[in-house]
Amino acid sequence: MLGLQRLFNGGDLTPHGFCLLWRPELLWLQVGPDALIGLSYYSIPLALAYFVWKRRDVAFGWIFWMFAAFILGCGTTHFVEIWTLWRPDYAAQGLVKVATAAISVATAIVLWPLLPQALALPSASELRQANAALSKEIEERNRVVEALQHEMVEHHRTGETLRQSQKMEGLGQLTGGIVHDFSNLLLILQGQLHILRRRSLIAGSEAQIAAMERAVARGDALARRFLSFARRQILLPDLIELREEMPKLVDLLRRSLRGNIEIRLDVAPTVGRVEVDWNEFELALINIAANARDAMPRGGIVTINVTEETVRGDDPALQGLTGQVARISISDNGTGVPTELIDRIFEPFFTTKEAGKGTGLGLSQVCSFAKRAGGAVTAVSSPGRGTTITLYLPLSTAMPLSTAPCFRDGSNDAARGTILLVDDNADVADVKAMILREYGYQVKLATDAEQALSMVSDGEPTDIVVSDIVMPGKLNGVDLARVLRKRFPELPVLLTTGYSAEAGHASQEGFTILPKPYRPEVLYRVIRDLLRPPAPAG
Ligand SMILES: Nc1ncnc2c1ncn2[C@@H]1O[C@H](COP(=O)(O)OP(=O)(O)OP(=O)(O)O)[C@@H](O)[C@H]1O
Ligand SMILES: [Mg+2]
Repeated sequence: MLGLQRLFNGGDLTPHGFCLLWRPELLWLQVGPDALIGLSYYSIPLALAYFVWKRRDVAFGWIFWMFAAFILGCGTTHFVEIWTLWRPDYAAQGLVKVATAAISVATAIVLWPLLPQALALPSASELRQANAALSKEIEERNRVVEALQHEMVEHHRTGETLRQSQKMEGLGQLTGGIVHDFSNLLLILQGQLHILRRRSLIAGSEAQIAAMERAVARGDALARRFLSFARRQILLPDLIELREEMPKLVDLLRRSLRGNIEIRLDVAPTVGRVEVDWNEFELALINIAANARDAMPRGGIVTINVTEETVRGDDPALQGLTGQVARISISDNGTGVPTELIDRIFEPFFTTKEAGKGTGLGLSQVCSFAKRAGGAVTAVSSPGRGTTITLYLPLSTAMPLSTAPCFRDGSNDAARGTILLVDDNADVADVKAMILREYGYQVKLATDAEQALSMVSDGEPTDIVVSDIVMPGKLNGVDLARVLRKRFPELPVLLTTGYSAEAGHASQEGFTILPKPYRPEVLYRVIRDLLRPPAPAG
């Protein structure tokens, strides 16, 4: 008991000794928890201070400092509790309590108004949601940026295409103009040669005349190719029954290829009609066959297969072509095209042939023909083994019209009748007149539509009017044909032109059109057929 009294007897500590009934276990029961609480209270402000120091951006950081001070005060009161068990420093204890009270009250006062603001802060799950929404938005924005970039590339490409097509348009106009004049020159040469032949004035000069005719024919083919390249040729879509027409075309190919080239044709019996410009189609086949011939200098076989097929738009080589098509494939067993060049063979002016042997416009014509016909063309080649060019032309469901002139081959029986020839080019008019006179027609000339109209109106005997479409003056050839049809419905009119946008309309209106350049005998046959009274029905 004495020992105990000594322990409590820190001088004046009787009240505590008394209160704790002089039992040491009660004393330690006070000291132990107070010390633990004090230590914990001291550690909490440290943690808070460390947190706020590290997270300087934390919202309401100052309230953490207030918590830290308040908890520090609370911890101190517990240590002072222990101290006063032995030392009666109640004044100091009171002061510590006052300081702790002050900071506690201040913290409690500022905490309540802070509560709504603290509650307004986004919670972790809200932040997660916002984060997810933001990620989604970023993704969306990235997608938009990507689409925008894609659009910019497309825009750039469209611009390029537009520039290219403007360039081609300009080039086309220029080419069209040149070819127009060039065709007239050819027409004059062709006409004069034709007259020499018909008048039998070629004795002794047969070889020279033949060479000139070949040169003119080549010029003619060249003119057609340039027109086709410039897209200035007149397109008169015909319904072509492939079963019937392919054998005729193959005969033509046989005549234009060398004798050591064999052509085999296989047309599926079910294949139907295509609606294409006849001359363009013929030219495309000639161009493909001529390439095959050039690829087989020692001769070989050209195989033409015509079948019907349904394409579904999944073959990128066919550029989205869908539906029922006629598939015309022309294969040779020639040299083939080197793999690195196969993509270039449809380019205008691409040729591997020596100068003077190729212009590089053959397959370009084939390609533009196929496109204009609403179809496509592909090329497959194995170097050393051969090449296959395949044309895909949409099949037509339309019924055949009989607008195209039908050329009946046959005799040069002396023609009867008076032709009114309307042409502003005096040389061309003269040569046409000479040719037609050779065939036995009477020919009168008019230099423009107005003159022609007044001649017919004045009652000058006229059996047929043959007029160029492009002419100076108020009326062009098509206008003249319309007026004549109204006033003189029985009078046949034939329109000729090298290239003209009007030609398409005129053909739709049922006028007969002869595209230039044409051979003299073709001009004669068309006129003869127009003058021939229609065969009795049945
Ligand atoms: N059947 C083929 N076999 C081998 N090469 C071919 C064949 N068809 C085309 N080519 C190649 O493609 C190129 C281009 O052909 P394209 O018909 O456009 O022009 P070209 O024949 O050179 O000249 P052009 O036809 O104007 O006289 C040819 O020069 C040739 O190299
Ligand atoms: Mg060619």
